[in-house]
Amino acid sequence: MSLKEKIDMEKLPRHIAIIMDGNGRWAKEQGQDRLFGHFHGVESVRNIVEGCAELGIGYLTLYAFSTENWDRPVEEVTGLMELLVDTIRKEVTTLNKNNIKLHVIGDMNMLPDYARNELKEALDETSHNTGLNLVMALSYSSRWEIVNAIKNIAADVKAGKLQPYEIDQDSIKDYLATKEFPDPELMVRTSGEYRISNFLLYQLAYAELYFTQVRWPDFRKENLYEAIIDFQQRERRFGKTGDQISQQEKTAIS
Ligand code: IPE
Ligand code: IPE
Ligand code: MG
Repeated sequence: MSLKEKIDMEKLPRHIAIIMDGNGRWAKEQGQDRLFGHFHGVESVRNIVEGCAELGIGYLTLYAFSTENWDRPVEEVTGLMELLVDTIRKEVTTLNKNNIKLHVIGDMNMLPDYARNELKEALDETSHNTGLNLVMALSYSSRWEIVNAIKNIAADVKAGKLQPYEIDQDSIKDYLATKEFPDPELMVRTSGEYRISNFLLYQLAYAELYFTQVRWPDFRKENLYEAIIDFQQRERRFGKTGDQISQQEKTAIS
C-alpha cells in the first residue's frame, strides 16, 4: 500500500498551511550560496501544489517571504523577489490548466512596482478558477496583519459603520487578509525549526502542527502525505473532552 493510498480521503484537511523553511541551510550543505537553495525550493512548490490539487485540498497557504525577511542581505532579497515573481508569472499557464486560483496575502506596498504589477496580472488571470486555492504569503507577517485589522476596525467604528458591541470573533476575521479562507487545519514547517515565525497567529488557533527535519528543497508529495496521515490520526478536541468527541462522532455516523 502506497503512502497516498493510506490517506483517508473523507478526512482531508480543508486548508493546509506550510512554512517553507531551510533553503539556505540546504544550499550551504551543498557548498552553494543561499539563492541556489531558493531556486531549488521552487521545484518543491510545484510538486506540493500539484500534490494538493490531485488530492482535492481546498486551500494551500505557502509562507514564501515574511515582513522580517526584508532585513536579509540586499542580494538575497532582490534575488528572492525576482525568483518569486518570475516563477509566478511562468506558472500561470499551469495554474490555469489545473484550475488553481492564486491569492496573495501580505503587505503589497513593500513590494517593488514590477513585482506588484506581475502579481496583479497573475491574480487576474487565474481569478476564474474553481479548484485549489493557492495562497502565497508574501511580505506577510501576522502582527502586520493584526495591526492593519485593528486600524481598519477603529476607522469603521469612528465612521459609525461598526458598533463596538458588534466586534466578535467572526467580525475580526472579516478584517484579516485571510477573510475569504477557512482557518488552516494542518500547519507544516520544514527544516527542523519549532516555531511559528509570525505566521497566521490568529488563524492557527486550533490547527494541528506538524514539524519535519526535511529541508524545503527536499520536500515532496510523499512528505506531504506523511503529514496528512499524521494529521488524520490526531484527535481534535477544541477544548472538549475525548469522550465528548467520540460521542459526537457516533452521533454524526448514526
Ligand atoms: C526559507 O528558507 C525561505 C525564506 C525564508 C524566504 P530560508 O532562507 O529561511 O533558509 P534557512 O532557514 O536559512 O536554511
Ligand atoms: C519563516 O522563515 C518565513 C518563511 C518561511 C517565508 P524564516 O527562516 O524567516 O524564520 P526564522 O527567522 O528562522 O524564524
Ligand atoms: Mg529559515
